[in-house]
Amino acid sequence: MSTITVTASAPDIGAEITGTDLSEPLTAENRAAIGDAFDTYRLLVFRDQFLTVDQHVAFSEHFGRLEDFPDPKDMADGHKTVLRVTNIDRATNRLKPVDDPGHKSFTLGTSDWHIDSSFRTLPSKASMLYAIEMPTEGGDTMFADTTIAYDALPDARRRELERLVVIHDFEETRRRHGLPPRPPEVQAATPPARQPLIAQRDHDRRALFIGSHTAGIEGMEDAEGRALLDELKEFSTQPQFTYRHRWQPGDMVMFDNICVMHKAMPYDLYGARRLLHRTTVAGQAPLLAVQTA
Ligand SMILES: [Fe+2]
Repeated sequence: MSTITVTASAPDIGAEITGTDLSEPLTAENRAAIGDAFDTYRLLVFRDQFLTVDQHVAFSEHFGRLEDFPDPKDMADGHKTVLRVTNIDRATNRLKPVDDPGHKSFTLGTSDWHIDSSFRTLPSKASMLYAIEMPTEGGDTMFADTTIAYDALPDARRRELERLVVIHDFEETRRRHGLPPRPPEVQAATPPARQPLIAQRDHDRRALFIGSHTAGIEGMEDAEGRALLDELKEFSTQPQFTYRHRWQPGDMVMFDNICVMHKAMPYDLYGARRLLHRTTVAGQAPLLAVQTA
């Protein structure tokens, strides 16, 4: 029998899970109960978890194969499936220079509403963010669920959006902020991807697949596509569709990486340390566009 308790966190988004210690092997019953809660709530919070990198990986692998992160300086303790989400330089253990182009692109990118890896042809299924060192002020993460935002769109608007294809490009954040592009051989590893604007989910639901990696809409002028994407972002991030997580070290937040956008809130980049570890469950198939009879 499962030992966990699921408590909804906000009216429509997220739940808190208690009654399991993620540092220990997950029982089949608890794995199933967490999977069910994830399907229902799309964002799960586990508090007071004190995990080694190996334990974080072991928990994450219950939900599928993990993505690799190619840059060794971003890996946690040499684990290629664990990304350091941080302003701390691993080599020196000091704060990274705020104006370094790579770090600036990271902070600008993560502080805007985004979906991790939305530029991949096979979008990622879930991300697990685990807090290790957090600022005493700021640095919260906001989450917005585009499933419930989609549900709130008028029928006529949904139909207008059904067949649209959006280009997602990792370079977009750099372009938008006038930062130098990454070298061509690095860009080649993550070419732009075509994604349906509305993703048909497994469990009979639909979600808007948007966020800051969006670079335009096929068949629309740049300005028109940008205006529509901005409008949908504004709509989807209204308070009734969002959840704000105020981190404590030891928090694990697992979220659906198709329909939950997120962004980091400001904190003192010059004085405060912020370190989270992220694993990401790889997608196995392209997103399904809307299925109509
Ligand atoms: Fe992210």
